[in-house]
Amino acid sequence: MKKIFPLNHGLRGAIEIPGDKSISHRSIILSSLGDTAVEVSNFLAGADCLSTVSCMKALGAEIKQSGEKFLIKGCGLHGLHEPENILDAGNSGTTLRLLMGLLAPQKFLTTFTGDDSLRRRPMARVITPLAKMGASIFGRNSNKNLPITILPAEKNFRGITYEMPVASAQVKSAILLAGLFAESPTTVIEPAPSRDHTEKMLAAFGARLEKEGNAIKIFPTKKLTAPEKISVPGDISSAAYWIVLATILDGSNIILENVGVNETRAGILDVLKDMGAKIEILNERTSGGERSADLKVVSSKLHGVEFGGATIPRLIDEIPALAVAAAFAEGTTIIRDVAELRVKETDRLAAIVEEFNKISPDTFQATGDTLIIHGGREKFFAECKTRADHRMAMSLAIFGAAGEGVAIDDEACVKISYPNFFDTLTC
Ligand code: S3P
Repeated sequence: MKKIFPLNHGLRGAIEIPGDKSISHRSIILSSLGDTAVEVSNFLAGADCLSTVSCMKALGAEIKQSGEKFLIKGCGLHGLHEPENILDAGNSGTTLRLLMGLLAPQKFLTTFTGDDSLRRRPMARVITPLAKMGASIFGRNSNKNLPITILPAEKNFRGITYEMPVASAQVKSAILLAGLFAESPTTVIEPAPSRDHTEKMLAAFGARLEKEGNAIKIFPTKKLTAPEKISVPGDISSAAYWIVLATILDGSNIILENVGVNETRAGILDVLKDMGAKIEILNERTSGGERSADLKVVSSKLHGVEFGGATIPRLIDEIPALAVAAAFAEGTTIIRDVAELRVKETDRLAAIVEEFNKISPDTFQATGDTLIIHGGREKFFAECKTRADHRMAMSLAIFGAAGEGVAIDDEACVKISYPNFFDTLTC
């Protein structure tokens, strides 16, 4: 059990935010498909991204760590080779789903596995479109869970037009990566825009993409041209814990340095501002198509809001942290359309209701796909379970820090996305 004590003061000073997890994965995958050396700075050396590193090494890329930089020498778009062993994606849905898209068109066989959580997560959403392109992919049971085997692709790997039933960047990215190898262009149509890091990075590697509304078309290519350097911005999903904590703790005034503020990820800033938060976006800049900025956050009084629809994919990973903010707000917050929370590292909708209510009883309620938070109710010290979910662990920690403290059963799971989270919280 790790105990977090109440912080009886506001947050002050500057906090450096670790590299963006989604962009770090993509930097390794795409650099492995170029044929020149790439230096990636501010790479997130968390467990998820290291799963991608070990899979790409097994497929033939040379990847070395040098201080805080990662150096990658790719094997060319058509130069991947059959791995000698089963690929282990660990806890990482991004590793697994993006690599399924990359490997479906290859002429060799691959088998994937992952940890207990990943083995329970739905993979049919990726297998269905890849099968339409001509892939032969087999998973365990009717849900097509891990372990999954991809057979060597047949000659005709087809471009498709695919309307995605859920807004998922992992599914979209899998289809786009497969589309690089198809005979004709591939179009994916999203119900609402999900994070677009794959499209932005593919364009920076010289791939041809066209965007029209929620449709993205990718053209097959023979070669990707890697940039010499990629600089990964800080992860807004990791910054979210400090944005929320600084907002709800009296006397806070912090700067969060170099945070990615890509429009498809910045939903949390819009929602918190609607709730009354004081967040200033300073020193905006763009690199590799990705916007980043420094964020200044001072404490403020929050009020409940209602949102859903196209906002949800823009803040899907921040909902546990936002739920904490809502528990300190005046009035009720209603978050609609959050069914996707049920298929994350754990069922986050159930976890929020069951674990967060131990801290603030009768505050969190799930009705269908809607999460309702009755703000302003009393907070207590509680012992809570993270369910081995990094975002649950960090959200519980800030909930306890802003309230009456908390004990969590598993602190190690934060290594997935934010290895030094607790050092920053307690310093
Ligand atoms: C991610 C996409 C999202 C997000 C996950 C990272 C990515 O998942 O929740 O943490 O890097 O593409 P979905 O694609 O399942 O929405």
